[in-house]
Amino acid sequence: HHARLTINPKFAVGPISRRLFGSFVEHLGRCVYDGIYEPGHPSADAEGFRTDVIELVKELGVSTVRYPGGNFVSGYRWEDGVGPRGNRPRRLDLAWHSTETNEVGLHEFGSWLEKVGSELMLAVNLGTRGTLEALDLLEYANIRSGTTQSELRALNGRAEPFGVKMWCLGNEMDGPWQLGHRSAADYGKLASQTAKAMRQLDPSLELVVCGSSGAQMPTFGDWEREVLTHTYEDVDYISCHAYYEEKNGDLGSFLASAVDMDRFIESVVATADHVKAANGSSKTINISFDEWNVWYLDRFKKVEKIKGLDNWPVAPRLLEDAYSVADAVVVGNLLISLLKHADRVTSASLAQLVNVIAPIMTEPGGPAWRQTTFFPFALTSRLAAGEALATRIETPQYDTEVHGSVPLVDAVATHDASTGTSAVFLVNRSQDEEVVLTVDLSALDATILLDAQTLSDSDVYAKNTLEDPERVRLSRNKSVEVRDGSVVVTLPPVSWTALSLG
Ligand code: AHR
Repeated sequence: HHARLTINPKFAVGPISRRLFGSFVEHLGRCVYDGIYEPGHPSADAEGFRTDVIELVKELGVSTVRYPGGNFVSGYRWEDGVGPRGNRPRRLDLAWHSTETNEVGLHEFGSWLEKVGSELMLAVNLGTRGTLEALDLLEYANIRSGTTQSELRALNGRAEPFGVKMWCLGNEMDGPWQLGHRSAADYGKLASQTAKAMRQLDPSLELVVCGSSGAQMPTFGDWEREVLTHTYEDVDYISCHAYYEEKNGDLGSFLASAVDMDRFIESVVATADHVKAANGSSKTINISFDEWNVWYLDRFKKVEKIKGLDNWPVAPRLLEDAYSVADAVVVGNLLISLLKHADRVTSASLAQLVNVIAPIMTEPGGPAWRQTTFFPFALTSRLAAGEALATRIETPQYDTEVHGSVPLVDAVATHDASTGTSAVFLVNRSQDEEVVLTVDLSALDATILLDAQTLSDSDVYAKNTLEDPERVRLSRNKSVEVRDGSVVVTLPPVSWTALSLG
């Protein structure tokens, strides 16, 4: 097969927000305990954080980290996680049928974030709590001094405020599994009240209201319309969540998951803009795609759930998917989808970061390693800068069961005028054929090819595991050549590629 891509820095979609490369740490399974935090591990620092994990998180290039949930946050009392450790309660976590020891809370997580150099995105509990508790947390986090909550923070060891800008107004409130799940109207009113109150305290906040837990939800579309009708002037973002997996051995549909993400984003943008028109508003609501990944949810639903009145384990192994080459190609493609919509998706979080559906895995007392999905995320985060460009792509199509006829090749380009560098991200979704792709760069001046890295393998189900942690990695694409103002590159079947140009 052959395909052709034309890029021109004049045709920009919009600036790329660094917040597009966010991630998510939930108190779930071994994400926090035995993930980022393991006192006694040979690499642990004085606070009990694994420095091998810190190094990998830095290498991954994570901007914002959403915390502390997820479903967990809807039963969480933030006060449990602050103050002397010896006094912190052990609580039941109903979302994951676990025990929360509260050894890690806001202070510890804030300190960990400083070590990795990422920004905190904090979620408040609007499931089992309300406006007042959200205000207490905001006062504790952002007021410098002179009030009960701010003085308490200082007493607990932190004189400087946390200065948290990004706040999620609850989590997945449309989901019947959510503690405190409610209707769009009930949630919309609560979110509006809470947002107004939080802004009365700190007008500089950026607030995310809950959209749907997925485009497959029966209330999808109506939920966004109704929630935004109540909150349009009070918030800045509406959230999207999406998880993809290969179902019934249909690899062709799975490889085209980004087609679904494209449609999802465009539907939510259309709905938000409809409310804008109906409200006569001049303000634009953007998307925080604050949970996205490959997740073998069907498999998770089939494994025996933790249950029993006397059985609430601490940090059990939950949602520990091992990712394949095909999964990494899909993750790379989902990043392409986010970048293609950089004008409206201005925040996103790969769910999650360590052990729980994560790019980084750890063994207690043992090593930490990179899953296959680590590579496209790390390289995209490093190379995608400046503006996302509208790309014109001529490519063969193929038929899928789930998404209809879809392009064989998907791509996005970025251009950073301040450094003169560009990048092109590509996937070949064919399961058996290479694609020879020509990238027409004639509109970019003085371009030289700096690097071409590809992720592919003769076994698309190859994975990195504890036994073989470096089985899959990126390799230099040796086929690439520059010919008359164009780059010509061969994309192997089921592959993800990044070109960097300078
Ligand atoms: O990321 C795992 C879970 O997926 C989160 O807790 C929840 O928000 C979503 O359903």
